[in-house]
Amino acid sequence: MTIEKDGGRAGSKGLSDLERLRGLTCIKWTRYPSDVIPAWVADMDLPPAPVTVDAVDALVQRGDFGYNMLATSRLPEVFSQWQSRRHDWEPDARCVRLFCDVMQGMAVSLWLGTEPGDGVVLLTPTYPPFFSTIEGTGRRVVECPLDPDGWRLDPERLASVVDEGTRAIVFCNPHNPTGRVFDASELTAIASIAERHDLLVLSDEIWGDLVHPGAVHVPFALVSDDAARRTVTVTAASKAFNVAGLHCAVAHVGHAALRKKMNDLPPHVLGAVGTPGAEATLAAWTRGEPWLGTTRQYLTEARDHVAARLSTELPQVGFTVPDATYLAWLDVHDYSLGEDPAAWLLEHARVALSSGNDFGVHGEGFVRMNMATSMEILDLIIDRMVAALTDAPRVANPRGGGRT
Ligand SMILES: Cc1ncc(COP(=O)(O)O)c(C=O)c1O
Repeated sequence: MTIEKDGGRAGSKGLSDLERLRGLTCIKWTRYPSDVIPAWVADMDLPPAPVTVDAVDALVQRGDFGYNMLATSRLPEVFSQWQSRRHDWEPDARCVRLFCDVMQGMAVSLWLGTEPGDGVVLLTPTYPPFFSTIEGTGRRVVECPLDPDGWRLDPERLASVVDEGTRAIVFCNPHNPTGRVFDASELTAIASIAERHDLLVLSDEIWGDLVHPGAVHVPFALVSDDAARRTVTVTAASKAFNVAGLHCAVAHVGHAALRKKMNDLPPHVLGAVGTPGAEATLAAWTRGEPWLGTTRQYLTEARDHVAARLSTELPQVGFTVPDATYLAWLDVHDYSLGEDPAAWLLEHARVALSSGNDFGVHGEGFVRMNMATSMEILDLIIDRMVAALTDAPRVANPRGGGRT
């Protein structure tokens, strides 16, 4: 697959792209044997945005690998301008802190902003590292399951799970794995419950730039002044521009007391962002918009293609078409695939999807498919799933696919 420079039409090398992909050293393409098509971890098979490649290449050409604060010093302001242009939010650059990746920003915020034993709400199903981060810091997971009929947030359920010892809510907006873009009423409900119980809010907005037509990403900090003051928004160019391995993330720390705790950390404990990650992020957020536009258009076509094929060829698989992300959260409850449907599909279809079991309540009976690949590879994945599932055992009383 090729994405032409600066916003040219997204083209496709189709199956011949498999050769390039199998030569990559990233985890997506090295974890499984070569007869398996990987569609699990959230990296795109599209080459990264050319502006990011050029930015890293310029460092390589100059042999410019010495200590370097130039790019990182520009990032807070450039992040603020990007948010303002793309999402009508003007975060104060003075409240921006850099992290090596989004999960470091989330973990440090949780570590400094809550105490061991504190309850932390997750909107489940959700991105699995949220669980290990909460549990690994000695905090307590409090699950608030989303409504499986469309994956909306039920404000009453959220209010009911918050107990005396709950101190924070962690969520991703847009939501991984369902691809929901929370609407104004859901975001307002989260903000008002957070205010009532004085919760720290960690809003992971890493998917905010990958929204499909018709949906609008609203940064959580825009919901109200109070929300802005109690929220840490963590994001990166990594999902939208496909540069996760370069490790560069930004956090807007609206919570003043937490910001002070971060500032007071001993020097060097957090390490620093490397120059390639910082340069690539600057390039993405200053010159990447044409490429992003073309790529988003392609990802919407891929999403619609998957939805069309699943609805005609695998109607028993439930699929709520996502508003954002390139992830498909597939309900395979109507099949009898054992404890881990992803393991069954790996064995019988030779496709590697993410196991729903890792995503908390409403994860069991689901698999997550990464749709960010060429149409030909997508077709190969779906062909293999159709062939395997056509002969798969079914449950006695199927509920019917949950497609909306
Ligand atoms: C919601 C969410 N947050 C965080 C990450 C990981 O970001 P990072 O590698 O910057 O920690 C991902 C990766 O897929 C994600 O989907």
